Amino acid sequence: MPVQRTFLGRPIRLQMPPRRFQLLFIFVGFFIYALFVYGPPSSADIPSYEQVSEAVKHPHLPNLPDIHKLPDLPDLSIPKVFGPSAHKPPVQPNSTTSSSYRAIEWFADFKWRNPFSSTITLDENRAVLPPLKRRPPIYTYYDARGKEDKEVSEAENRLILAWRRAWWAQGFQPQVLSRDEAQKHPQYELVQRMRLGKIDPRVELEMMRWLAWGHMRGGILTNWLALPMAKYDNPMLSFLRRQEYPFLSRIESLQNGVFFGEAAAVEEAIKKAIGSELFKNTTANKDKIAALKNDAGAIVNLLTKDDIAVDSKANGVAYYSTSTINSAYKSLGDKLGDKAKAEGLDLLATLINSHLHLTFQTLFPDGLAVVKPLPEHTTALMDEAIEIARNLTQCAASPLPKSCPPNLPKCSPCDPAKPLKLELIPSLKNVSALYTVGTVPHPYTLNSLHYMRDSIDAEFLRREAHRDMWISALTKGSLGEQHSGADHVLYFKEAVASPTSVSNSLWLTAERPTQADLDWVFGFNLPQKASTNDEPTSKSGITIFPRAKPPKPLEGVKPQEEKWLRTEEDRLKKARQAIKSTDKNYQSVVAMVEQWNLADTEAWKFSRAFSARRRVERKKWEEEEQKYAGSEKKSGVQTAGGGSRWSD
Ligand SMILES: *[C@@H]1O[C@H](CO)[C@@H](O)[C@H](O)[C@H]1NC(C)=O
Ligand SMILES: *[C@@H]1O[C@H](CO)[C@@H](O)[C@H](O)[C@H]1NC(C)=O
Ligand SMILES: *[C@@H]1O[C@H](CO)[C@@H](O)[C@H](O)[C@H]1NC(C)=O
Ligand SMILES: *[C@@H]1O[C@H](CO)[C@@H](O)[C@H](O)[C@H]1NC(C)=O
Repeated sequence: MPVQRTFLGRPIRLQMPPRRFQLLFIFVGFFIYALFVYGPPSSADIPSYEQVSEAVKHPHLPNLPDIHKLPDLPDLSIPKVFGPSAHKPPVQPNSTTSSSYRAIEWFADFKWRNPFSSTITLDENRAVLPPLKRRPPIYTYYDARGKEDKEVSEAENRLILAWRRAWWAQGFQPQVLSRDEAQKHPQYELVQRMRLGKIDPRVELEMMRWLAWGHMRGGILTNWLALPMAKYDNPMLSFLRRQEYPFLSRIESLQNGVFFGEAAAVEEAIKKAIGSELFKNTTANKDKIAALKNDAGAIVNLLTKDDIAVDSKANGVAYYSTSTINSAYKSLGDKLGDKAKAEGLDLLATLINSHLHLTFQTLFPDGLAVVKPLPEHTTALMDEAIEIARNLTQCAASPLPKSCPPNLPKCSPCDPAKPLKLELIPSLKNVSALYTVGTVPHPYTLNSLHYMRDSIDAEFLRREAHRDMWISALTKGSLGEQHSGADHVLYFKEAVASPTSVSNSLWLTAERPTQADLDWVFGFNLPQKASTNDEPTSKSGITIFPRAKPPKPLEGVKPQEEKWLRTEEDRLKKARQAIKSTDKNYQSVVAMVEQWNLADTEAWKFSRAFSARRRVERKKWEEEEQKYAGSEKKSGVQTAGGGSRWSD
């Protein structure tokens, strides 16, 4: 029996309307839906030249048909249909930097895991980045007084620069303290009057060091020969980064290399040490005071076990103390004792750099991978990435090539006969033992190379170009093919910027020809020299190694012939010109390509803003620190290749 339907108690008869009305209803319904989701329809599904140039002039006109947006994405066109309903978030300080390819702008927000930044910033050009992690300050003390020898002090500054770089790369804010900070401490006068320098300069130095630290209200105090050599998430480094130090502590194996504690505990320790009976009559207690310099230093030796905790399981920091150098790196220790002190210090800097580099290599046992999606005609894009990856896999120059870092005495030293693996991969792999270097091209660059075209126009885009090719190829290996552009972008953003992967990968933009701040990203200098043959060569006490071989071509992809490579390079240059061109025609074509490849464009903007912000943060810090020891300026390090260091 058929079901009798009722409405408000009355029986109603459900009857399908005639067939022609059914069609009409479906059509009207679809039309309303389409109007709502995509905005007013237009004659063609790709913007015409005029439309795009109009839209570039008035970027918020809703008439640029945005066919690419899938209905399940947060849709920009909705607020526009109902009139402007949101204000742009205020511009954050230091969130813009200039670039030859229009300004790089970003906005730091917890909502960065959003496929399209413009839904949050309401600004086509501004990328949403994860909030910058707060860098906990870490201090070292360097007293430059009475150092006449310019060469020695420059060499020391270079070592301090290495210290600053290594801690910066690990997410800290390294600061070099001096006598000036110590003088601001209320107890300075008192300590000064004890004339400890006459008894033993090292005791005085240790006292001054603590006074300076006390003036900075505690935190982490290290020797500038104590450098982090461990994974980013090493438990000790993570603990130090949290900036919560329940006890004033030191680390057993590091003597006075690392201390950490809150301001009050540090003050308490200083007070107690200075109040010691020994200082009541320094002449009588001369020998005892001089003996304080041993082990963990003067202050610790005046405290009891209850005043300062001793951490025994900490392996994240390598400390090149005099005793370590003399026992583990004896030939170097001899040089440091010599008259040729500056030379010895430079050798030590080279040794430390090689250990930092070796640590990096041991952290990535699977080696390095350079991602090369769409490999057929994009070899020229990869030059810079491969160059960096090769230098990272090369063995570092070292005065003691077989030596290990002090915190990892059983390492396997870098062996040029068994180099770290370096491979090309067609799409991203999410493996933590692998370090990935990638190049993100602007979609204009990619289309021009991939389709081997010197110029791009609307006709070509409509008829031939696939959308968002780069990001789909990049994420295909991990995500599969069944995902939307939004999923691809999100995956990519995670790979670039999520806390777990930021220390596992480096992303360059194809349009930026040189990379300047790599040493601050990695925390060490990449090898700049290689031996000319296949054997290690030794020069003025330092062994340099042969260059790592370039990676093998991807399987199934024919290596590019030399003459085609030349064409690719030309095309890459032309694409760079086109993207930065101020010519209106070029600009509208570029805008059109960006509209056609929303996901690829977003990836480009995101990674570009991510590295630009990193540069700006660093640059700002260097400017603030330039008058202190260990700055690039004081270390005789060339900061600028003709002022181009900070721009692209
Ligand atoms: C960063 O912003 C602050 C405050 O807005 C400004 O004083 C400073 O000059 C900016 N620094 C850079 C490098 O832009
Ligand atoms: C310190 O000790 C020395 C030798 O023991 C003594 O001659 C001197 O008087 C003492 N000074 C003070 C201020 O007590
Ligand atoms: C990689 O894998 C880890 C877990 O194995 C996961 O937490 C992380 O989100 C993945 N990264 C990306 C970019 O998907
Ligand atoms: C890599 O090493 C070569 C020499 O082997 C050097 O010319 C080049 O500048 C280095 N590149 C980087 C990015 O460090």
